Amino acid sequence: MSDKYCVIGNPIAHSKSPDIHAAFAAATGHDISYGRCLAPLDGFADTVRDLVAQGYRGANVTVPFKLEAAALATRLEERARLAGAVNTLRFDNGEIVGDNTDGPGLVADIVQNAGVPLGGKRILLLGAGGAARGVILPFLREQPEAIVIANRTRATADALVDHFSRQVERRGQLRARGFDDIEEPFDVVVNATSSSLSATMPPVPARAFQPGTLALDMMYGKTPSPFMAFASKHGAIPRDGLGMLVEQAAEAFRIWRNVRPSTKAVLARMRERL
Ligand code: ATR
Repeated sequence: MSDKYCVIGNPIAHSKSPDIHAAFAAATGHDISYGRCLAPLDGFADTVRDLVAQGYRGANVTVPFKLEAAALATRLEERARLAGAVNTLRFDNGEIVGDNTDGPGLVADIVQNAGVPLGGKRILLLGAGGAARGVILPFLREQPEAIVIANRTRATADALVDHFSRQVERRGQLRARGFDDIEEPFDVVVNATSSSLSATMPPVPARAFQPGTLALDMMYGKTPSPFMAFASKHGAIPRDGLGMLVEQAAEAFRIWRNVRPSTKAVLARMRERL
């Protein structure tokens, strides 16, 4: 019988993860099934326990359950503990092991797919919610010159820098700012706010971009987001979050199956189907 996995969320019907994991399974010759699992808003923990009882081997977790998944895990990998959020669960002999592959997925997409190494670079991270938290440790590990976190509510960015500064080495690279205090261009600007969901963009000034800046929106869609359109108007190279989506899935597949599938063909196919 195939090993069973699924993605848990609410809503979940739109999730592309089953298509991505089916493609990885076919390419690697692994016999797995991967479905969608709708959990009631007040029933995440019960849903996970039910999956464990049914013999599932693991699950991905998406909106709005990533924080609950971190609380439910019996063991957390460091990157998930620091992010306070879990997107990948592995069910292992009674343990529920929580990990977060969103940040590593973003780094893989920037470094390998976009061909932009992050060592020595200046990174501007827009937003200080769950999506931003997940990428800070993986970014720090690439040893950039600086990571500036800008958020509409400045105090949340300050708290995030404080949180990481207490627990991580090389913390000198991390700074918080308000949008109004962004005075200079960056090499990489990442939109980790949820603004694209409402077809708006964070109030990032044009001077944050220069020719060649990589401007990556974690969201994706048929057309460029307002953030991507604004960034390209000011000389930046826009990129959406589809590569991050495929790469975080590849990293989850590796955690479960011990092999990291190749992502190029899968990303191209997902792009065609947008
Ligand atoms: P997620 O888990 O997707 O990060 P979240 O934790 O609710 O979601 O965080 C949303 C982030 O997007 C926050 O940083 C939020 O800024 P505030 O802390 O000031 O609320 C940011 N955000 C959402 N809409 C925005 C907008 N239109 N402009 C700027 N920032 C926005």
